[in-house]
Amino acid sequence: MSSGVRDQRIGGTLLEMRNISLAFGGVKALTDISLDVKEHEIRAIIGPNGAGKSSLLNVINGVYTAQQGEITLAGVKFAKMSSRRAAEMGIARTFQNLALFKGMSVLDNIMTGRNLRMTSGVLAQAFRLGSAEREEIANREFVENIIDFLEIQPYRKIPVGRLPYGLQKRVDLGRALAMEPRMLLLDEPMAGMNIEEKQDMSRFILDVNDEYGTTIVLIEHDMGVVMDISDRVVVLDYGKKIGDGMPDEVRQNPDVIQAYLGASH
Ligand SMILES: Nc1ncnc2c1ncn2[C@@H]1O[C@H](COP(=O)(O)OP(=O)(O)OP(=O)(O)O)[C@@H](O)[C@H]1O
Ligand SMILES: [Mg+2]
Repeated sequence: MSSGVRDQRIGGTLLEMRNISLAFGGVKALTDISLDVKEHEIRAIIGPNGAGKSSLLNVINGVYTAQQGEITLAGVKFAKMSSRRAAEMGIARTFQNLALFKGMSVLDNIMTGRNLRMTSGVLAQAFRLGSAEREEIANREFVENIIDFLEIQPYRKIPVGRLPYGLQKRVDLGRALAMEPRMLLLDEPMAGMNIEEKQDMSRFILDVNDEYGTTIVLIEHDMGVVMDISDRVVVLDYGKKIGDGMPDEVRQNPDVIQAYLGASH
């Protein structure tokens, strides 16, 4: 799809972070970071190891609380975001280190994402007989659709721990998609993958963005991938923002070039 067509999909500001600072004891993980994410865009976060990329995602989804700054999500301002509130607001994420249940099947792992959305409480079930069952059936159907979408039908019943790494990453994406997120946070979804697996994952990320309209914040080290699929890129180095813009602008930014030349990868 041409970038012109993609640009038309991008809407107003969905997330705005203002002057966010986060420290762990003496370690400044993030210093005065401001950035925005627009509805339906694919926003990449890049930077050398230890730059603060994962910490930034953890602030967005309320796992870490910034000591300074504020977050506005879908027009609601938060001094403090909790992980529960973030989930309620439609934020889902995948992890740099896989957090799947290795002994459970692909299907059941993806169902765990779905279960976070189940609405039938005990009372609701008592008053609306059969609704829990209907809900379970609807959830199964939703999960089967995700499995089709991610082309992992042949592995539905296989324990996740037995699958190759690239497929496990795809299951992790499926688990996050099962939450029907408005915003998806992907922490190095292609780390450790070979070229073919990276191409597959890139295609799925673009398809999720196109077909479900999901806003995506993506941490990725592979510059080729970042330049190919992202609308805009934020660059972090030692917890500070050193670049922000379209992929081509960021690539030519002298500070960014310097950070990467000085880094080990
Ligand atoms: N829970 C924590 N406790 C203490 N220090 C932390 C914690 N999380 C992150 N840090 C520190 O904050 C800094 C930023 O780490 P972060 O994991 O956000 O970097 P990153 O850009 O994701 O790196 P990588 O590319 O290696 O994944 C590092 O110095 C790290 O050691
Ligand atoms: Mg990280």
